[in-house]
Amino acid sequence: MLSCAPLGGWVLQPWSKILLWFFFNCKTDFSAETQVAGWCWAACGAGAAWRLSAQILNTRAAPSLVGNPCQNARFGAKATGQHAWPCPAAAELKELEVPRLGHSDVHVKMLAAPINPADINMIQGTYAILAPLPAVAGNEGVGRVLEVGPGVTALRRGDWVIPADAGLGTWRTQAVFPEASLLQVPSDIPLLCAATLSVNPCTAYRMLSDFESLAPGDSVIQNAANSGVGQAVIQIAKATGVRTINVVRDRPDLPKLVERLKALGADHVITEDVLRKPEMKEIFKSIPKPRLALNCVGGKSTTEMLRHLQPKGTMVTYGGMAKQPVTVPVSAFIFRDVRLRGFWMTQWKKDHAHDKESLTSMMDALCQLVRRGQLGAPACTTVPLEDFREALVASMQPFTSSKQVLLL
Ligand SMILES: NC(=O)c1ccc[n+]([C@@H]2O[C@H](COP(=O)([O-])OP(=O)(O)OC[C@H]3O[C@@H](n4cnc5c(N)ncnc54)[C@H](OP(=O)(O)O)[C@@H]3O)[C@@H](O)[C@H]2O)c1
Repeated sequence: MLSCAPLGGWVLQPWSKILLWFFFNCKTDFSAETQVAGWCWAACGAGAAWRLSAQILNTRAAPSLVGNPCQNARFGAKATGQHAWPCPAAAELKELEVPRLGHSDVHVKMLAAPINPADINMIQGTYAILAPLPAVAGNEGVGRVLEVGPGVTALRRGDWVIPADAGLGTWRTQAVFPEASLLQVPSDIPLLCAATLSVNPCTAYRMLSDFESLAPGDSVIQNAANSGVGQAVIQIAKATGVRTINVVRDRPDLPKLVERLKALGADHVITEDVLRKPEMKEIFKSIPKPRLALNCVGGKSTTEMLRHLQPKGTMVTYGGMAKQPVTVPVSAFIFRDVRLRGFWMTQWKKDHAHDKESLTSMMDALCQLVRRGQLGAPACTTVPLEDFREALVASMQPFTSSKQVLLL
């Protein structure tokens, strides 16, 4: 770990390039593999920031020097050392050198990486997994292989790769990653599809496959239907003949959103308040009540959605955007025997770490859907890396219906 290493012990490669990297603020350790550095605007102040920037540019050991003075200053200000920095104030763009390519390593030029709610939660310190800080943020994205180490078996120069798991740190221009942390994806699929493939479409795919055996003609109900996951659910369900009832929050441009989701294949798009209205009866004249409900929100929206689930149906909670608990009427348990489950893609990957076939077949199935034009990227706004602050702010605004994707 960098924080434990004597400074004189750092060997940096003469051929390394200076990179633009993206950081969020530091807690304790400093990982050499991910080459991260921490910074705190508030604690260090502009003068210190200028001095440390100068060190980065003028000394080859700068990356290892940057974090520590700032860390100390920050810990002075934040003695608990918790991840509790506001986003995006905790984020900083830095230039660092690329580490040496190891035996089983892959040098990757990152191409594009989305900003997902989980990335924000990680920066805010509210996510279930938190990288040792300082760390490079970003859990998803796509890159192109520039060079591989001699022990790399499955990847070659020019291949496109995505993270095999969460926590890779994708918001950077280049990186050296272990081969095992990467998955190859076809380079003939659209860039934005590849950049947004490893989290939301996989989550949608698993939730539609693993909880109820759905047949063509069955229906699924979901809230936050315009989310990245929601859009993938609509498209994957459509491709398999499963009908969707899609709940969104009311907004001024609702007709536009309804039109967009219907163009993706949504059968019904309704607002949260319609869940309580007689209009629901009309919907269930033409399609069966859902066997599966997908909950991304929590709170009232979820309680109302649950009312429409078939007896013995399953509600899967995978997100908590409203930051409110799920309340279930006792009658739903007693008289309808509903099943409440949870899903986390990261856990699924851990549980299937020795079952590569499940992961490969899921990725193949998703790429097939992409190639057939049945699964596209969510609505996206592409943003140059330099404009990351605006992108972070935009990603946290309500009713945007567009995922911010950093172009790297
Ligand atoms: N469990 C897993 O494995 C897993 C995997 C992927 C994603 N997720 C989770 O799924 C959620 C969606 O992720 P994403 O990448 O698809 O998100 P996204 O594309 O950024 O969309 C966010 C969605 O949340 C809605 N939303 C935001 N605040 C809300 C509130 N207070 N009440 C109701 N709806 C609200 C937005 O609706 P408006 O347009 O109305 O603002 C939008 O539909 C996140 O919580 C994420 O962490 C979980």
